[in-house]
Amino acid sequence: MKLTLQVWRQPRAKEPGRFEIYLATQVHPDMSFLEMLDVVNEDLIAQGKEPIAFDSDCREGICGACSLVINGVPHGGNRGTTVCQMHMRHFRDGDTITIEPWRARAFPVIKDLVVDRTAFDRIIQAGGFISVNAGGAPDANALPVAKHLADLAMDAAACIGCGACVAACKNASAMLFVAAKVQHLNLLPQGKPEKDRRVKAMVRQMDQEGFGNCTVTGSCEAVCPKEISLDFIARMNRDYAVAIAKGEPPKARVGGAG
Ligand code: SF4
Ligand code: FES
Repeated sequence: MKLTLQVWRQPRAKEPGRFEIYLATQVHPDMSFLEMLDVVNEDLIAQGKEPIAFDSDCREGICGACSLVINGVPHGGNRGTTVCQMHMRHFRDGDTITIEPWRARAFPVIKDLVVDRTAFDRIIQAGGFISVNAGGAPDANALPVAKHLADLAMDAAACIGCGACVAACKNASAMLFVAAKVQHLNLLPQGKPEKDRRVKAMVRQMDQEGFGNCTVTGSCEAVCPKEISLDFIARMNRDYAVAIAKGEPPKARVGGAG
């Protein structure tokens, strides 16, 4: 396959960026999207040019590092698929592909296609943990958890923190991410003692980081590679309303005991 790539190049955060055109002439349909970029970068390096900076780590759809907007869609538009798991057979020979970084005020560009997502880390630090000494592994039936709650918590825990939900949202809202991280703990008995404090602290941190409000457009759910459901946002809103009604001030916490 031969492809034309329009790639966002930006040397650093405070400098303006621009699209540059590259021809990818040796693309195999079975390559992953990131492998295709690797080949383009090898060509650029061979020509003495600066390679395209992009994030990746596991390349197995589990770490959330890969973060590209492809043809206007975070992760490229293959439902339930990260960029690293998308293959070039989804494109046609001769296609022009536009590649951009996540675009949100809370995710400033570091270089080219790499953005700073430490805002998500600070939201987790605000409350995404359980403050107990877990000790050794308990007997499986020592703490009963209803099957439907275990399944729901597991669905929420599938969030890989990639940030595509923010990149897709016209408000740059992080509600789907925060809801998943709140609910996978709040739903389980182990997470209930800190439920109120957790939801208030994480929502407060989300607001401080400059993410926008949720207007329930559903764009986040549509692009989420782990297909996290909008229902978790409704659950988090309910937990938040209950916590506010109880009136307990959130305690600032940093880190958690494992
Ligand atoms: S909710 Fe989905 S899109 Fe958002 S960070 Fe988690 S996995 Fe990524
Ligand atoms: S590189 Fe880990 S999810 Fe894509």
